[in-house]
Formats: sequence, C-alpha cells, structure tokens
Amino acid sequence: MKDRKTTHFGYQEVPVEEKAGRVAEVFHSVASRYDVMNDLMSGGIHRLWKRFTIELSGARPGQQILDIAGGTGDLTARFSRIVGASGQVVLADINASMLEVGRDRLIDCGIAGNVVPVQADAQYLPFPDNTFDCITIAFGLRNVTDKDLALRDMLRVLKAGGRLLVLEFSKPQSRLLEKIYDQYSFRLLPLMGKLVANDADSYRYLAESIRRHPNQETLKQMMVEAGFVECEFHNMTGGIVALHRGIKP
Ligand SMILES: C[S@@+](CC[C@H](N)C(=O)[O-])C[C@H]1O[C@@H](n2cnc3c(N)ncnc32)[C@H](O)[C@@H]1O
Repeated sequence: MKDRKTTHFGYQEVPVEEKAGRVAEVFHSVASRYDVMNDLMSGGIHRLWKRFTIELSGARPGQQILDIAGGTGDLTARFSRIVGASGQVVLADINASMLEVGRDRLIDCGIAGNVVPVQADAQYLPFPDNTFDCITIAFGLRNVTDKDLALRDMLRVLKAGGRLLVLEFSKPQSRLLEKIYDQYSFRLLPLMGKLVANDADSYRYLAESIRRHPNQETLKQMMVEAGFVECEFHNMTGGIVALHRGIKP
C-alpha cells in the first residue's frame, strides 16, 4: 500500500486531505461564541494587536483590501471605515459559519456598503492577479494546510508594492513567559472553552496548533521564499503574538 502523506492537526498527525475538514469542524463549533471567547481568552488584548496591524497596513481611502481568514470581521470592520465608499474590503473565509456570524455582525454595526463577503480557501484565492493593495491574515495561517502555497497565492493577488500582514501566535521570547503561557494554554484555555462554549477540544486544538506553528524567523523565511521583499516582524506581548509584514516587489 502507498504511504499516505500526513500533516499536523494540533498534536495529531492526520492525512493531508483530512486537515481542512478537521479545522472546519473546530470553527463551525466555535463560531457563535467566537467573539466573546476572544475577549475572554486574551483579556481584550487582541484588540490592541489588531489595532497595530491596521497601523502597519498603511491602508488609505479608496484602496482594495483582502482580509483572508477574516472570520467574524474584526479587521474588516476597521478597514471598511478607512477605505471609505471609494474603496472595498473583501472578507474572505473558508468557513460558512464564521462568515455568517461576521456578515450579521457587520450589518448590525452599520457596515455593509463597501464589504464583500466571499467563501474562499487561502490556498486557492478566487481573485485575479494584482488585485489588492493590502492583504491581512489574522490568526488564520496557522490553520491552513499548505502555508507556502497560501503565501504564494497571496503574493499573486497583491498589486506590486502591496503589503501582506500576517498576525499570528508565535514563540514567547522568555523562558519564564513560555512556562506561564504553557500552563495557561493547556490548563485554563480548555477549561474556559468547556465552560463558555461547551467545547474543550477546540480550545485544546488552539493551544496545540500554536505550538506547531512556525516561529518568528521561520515564518519570515517562508515569506521571503514565497517572493515577498522587505520582510520583517514585530513581537507583541513578549512574542506570544507576532506581526509579520512583507511587500510584493
Ligand atoms: C482564529 S479565526 C481568526 C478570525 C479573524 N481573522 C480574527 O482575527 O478574529 C481563524 C479563521 O481562519 C479560517 N480558516 C481556516 N483555514 C482557512 C483557509 N484554508 N482559508 C481561509 N480561511 C481559513 C477559519 O474558518 C477561521 O474563521
């Protein structure tokens, strides 16, 4: 029998073709409680990480922005206000449940006119070459099966000079912080997930998938290899989160 190719889903090894389905189960399950859990788990700090992402994006009125793995639309909402009526933000996500929560939330906030929700996989973006001024992927790349493929496709749909911003959990920069963070992630997170969302497994996956994600330097190198230039990263909250930025030449 031929060996089947595998990849990681948290700490489990699964056949490559199964990963997307497993990730989909996680986000279908957490979609309705996603926003409240985000605030609870991060103590609201995710808002500051996202604000810095917007600052570094350099977004301006009239621009075309792609928020891939945009989920419930936190970044999309902020970009929508910046690009205004002459610009457009595409809120793209592979998961219909997350997109639905996002779309309803944006409508409730009075944001609709310049936002287009699209169900799409980061690895196979359904957009022409050279379409966007800026692409963001926040806490999404970790879940993508073939990250190199996704980075190359993001490069393809960016305009020359356009920016990619990858906001993602990363490697804490001190041993002490790493120890505390491990205790928090593997003990407290699944418990919170159980109590608030009645789903400990999804939050266990969250903790595990963060540990399997490439560290700061590795992700930077992956962006260089995909073809981005001027790649750099900024650690936030001691490296628990990093924001990577690369430019399309
Ligand atoms: C942790 S949420 C982040 C949502 C939002 N960006 C935020 O920062 O709050 C991760 C999102 O990635 C989406 N996702 C996972 N794999 C994806 C893929 N291959 N292509 C596009 N989106 C994906 C999930 O459906 C989910 O909505």
